[in-house]
Amino acid sequence: MSNETAVSRIGVLTSGGDAPGMNAAIRGAVRTAACLEIECIGIRHGYAGLINGDFIKMDQASVKGITGRGGTMLYTARSPEFNTKEGCKKAADTCNNMGIDGLVVIGGDGTFRGAMDLAHHDISVVGIPCTIDNDIACTSYTIGFDTACNTAVDAVDKLNDTMQSHERCSVVEVMGRRAGHLALGVGLATGATIIMVPEVKYDFEVDVIERIRAARLAGRSNFTVIVAEGAERGSDVADKIAKATGIDTRFTSLGHIQRGGSPHVRDRVVATSMGFKAVSLLAAGRKSRIVAMRGDKYIDLDIHEALSLTKEFDYELYKSFSALTFLDKNTLMQSFKDA
Ligand code: F6P
Repeated sequence: MSNETAVSRIGVLTSGGDAPGMNAAIRGAVRTAACLEIECIGIRHGYAGLINGDFIKMDQASVKGITGRGGTMLYTARSPEFNTKEGCKKAADTCNNMGIDGLVVIGGDGTFRGAMDLAHHDISVVGIPCTIDNDIACTSYTIGFDTACNTAVDAVDKLNDTMQSHERCSVVEVMGRRAGHLALGVGLATGATIIMVPEVKYDFEVDVIERIRAARLAGRSNFTVIVAEGAERGSDVADKIAKATGIDTRFTSLGHIQRGGSPHVRDRVVATSMGFKAVSLLAAGRKSRIVAMRGDKYIDLDIHEALSLTKEFDYELYKSFSALTFLDKNTLMQSFKDA
């Protein structure tokens, strides 16, 4: 069968921040390769492992039982050496010396930029979008987002119970150094009072303090503020709220808990499907592709095109959140007209 495919030996790696579903994507890729009788090599520690030849042989047995496991069995890393011209060349040379004629890279934007550099050395690469931030422009969904949202929602729900009992304000910092998609999802799902994201500029007095005061006047006695880490330090937000309102305010950072845990159904399904699609593309002789989702369909697009796109923040959803929270009829009517 292998002589019917454009590749006979492929490598699989995970790079950047881990996300729930990475293992399922590895399994999808490895099992598809096994099915097509394509030899498969697991590259450990991301691009650093590609430079150093940190390889393990993978077959269908090596990915048994990993679909439901968090983290990545191949380990992950951010490699400063790979980001140099010499490092990238070394990685490409390893591929050539090892007879690796196709590479599946699983990760976020940074991982794809690395893949593009390798593509310039004539290595066939296919990327699978996997990050809890859901901030990759070419795809409507990235593996790990749903599980991370659920993990954070579960924590905020628990915090809300105790905040309600003590009539406190809870400031919860969620991940998202450059993007607020996770914060928006978590804030919407938990009925937060305020959501702070890097994409929206704030006048702290007007947009946070006055709103909390208004909510208090309207009868609320506990409050939740979801802050994406890229918007402002959550601990500073908590201090300022406590000082300005006198409300007993507590700060919680959910941190790396959001990246761990067993992937939820959506992440297992998308990851398995994308793993399959990535290897199918390599087998068909496609080069420099990114697997993506449009609606519920799986597509692929050129890596250069994929990286030239910018992900839009869902301002409409954000505006409706504010309108519903603060019963802002004008904003809501305006979004009906815009729709
Ligand atoms: O995976 C992306 C991300 O979750 C960002 O939102 C966050 O800023 C970053 O990872 C932190 O990663 P690390 O602590 O591993 O550097």
